Amino acid sequence: MTTIEPYTSTQLGKFYLGNCEELLKGDLGRSLEGQVQLVFTSPPFPLNKKKRYGNQKGEEYLKWFTELAPILSRLLKPNGSIVIELGNCWEDGRPVQSLLPLQSLLGFVSHEDAGLRLCQQFICHNPARLPSPTQWVNVKRCRVTDSHTQLWWMAISDEPKADNRKVLRPYSKKMQKLLNRGTYNAGKRSSGHKIGQSSFLKNNGGAISHNVLEMEPINPDAEVRIPGSAFSLSNTTSTDFFHAECKAREITPHPARIQPRLVDFFVQFLTDPGDLVLDPFAGSNVTGYVAERTERPWVSIEAEEEYAKQSCIRFEDPEVKKIDIAAPEDTDLTPNLENSESQ
Ligand SMILES: C[S@@+](CC[C@H](N)C(=O)[O-])C[C@H]1O[C@@H](n2cnc3c(N)ncnc32)[C@H](O)[C@@H]1O
Repeated sequence: MTTIEPYTSTQLGKFYLGNCEELLKGDLGRSLEGQVQLVFTSPPFPLNKKKRYGNQKGEEYLKWFTELAPILSRLLKPNGSIVIELGNCWEDGRPVQSLLPLQSLLGFVSHEDAGLRLCQQFICHNPARLPSPTQWVNVKRCRVTDSHTQLWWMAISDEPKADNRKVLRPYSKKMQKLLNRGTYNAGKRSSGHKIGQSSFLKNNGGAISHNVLEMEPINPDAEVRIPGSAFSLSNTTSTDFFHAECKAREITPHPARIQPRLVDFFVQFLTDPGDLVLDPFAGSNVTGYVAERTERPWVSIEAEEEYAKQSCIRFEDPEVKKIDIAAPEDTDLTPNLENSESQ
């Protein structure tokens, strides 16, 4: 039996070095078919200038991205999900927002061989984002800061596994007071909603999440109520273990790391412990790190060895090490090529 050797592995996960399209069209993909509960990924953005990690341009990007849809959807369990983060991009030398991210999303979700539908759109708002695009925001002052990215949740069924009770937002102070007081003004609101005498008196442990996820407060006096995780994942990428260790070892950390709390939100919302999570554009492997901390087996793929190498630092985090994770008995992440070759 031949096996695909991962670049590195942990108790629950395997990290593969290579081009994800090639690996997922091949034996690794065959071994994962119908197994994945959640594909969570932040692919290279379509850019007008090539970045260090191989982003493609225009039409070429659109075709490449669209063709990923059937490759990823066939890996899903019937009730599995794909969540893709797509940032905005701008036309080269013009204060004009590119349609490419939207075209890419449409091409992906409506690819006829993928069988996908859009479950919900999420906005991740980060008011701490530096002003960009600088030419139009800082110099010409004719556009405002682009401060959000979008996450598109797709699935091959109308009702993929999802439970919003697992991602409750902490109640606001006002709501906590109301619960303590046990009274409020019932009746009809101007929105047309009828609020019953006791509708708000049941403590559900938190409020239902919104599809706008605010990473830092717009108003410093207001509280940010991002759903808590089983672990207190850092909400800034600059103070976490990975960043501190990269600094100490004089390693330049991946420039486009995603917020662990954002990954955690979707992992908690759309999977249970033991469910397989895949990130085909893993970068520094925030997805694998969050999956490991929340007891989900994971598979990550990254094309650049530099990032694969630095991703190993994440698993030296004492917070990961102190979790005694028992891998589910039926989770063998070693692709079995004997089976896949006979298909
Ligand atoms: C936006 S970054 C992902 C960052 C990651 N979420 C993190 O938090 O570190 C996209 C990554 O995809 C990788 N990449 C680009 N093309 C790829 C391909 N064909 N297969 C696998 N990885 C690829 C890039 O090297 C880059 O690290």
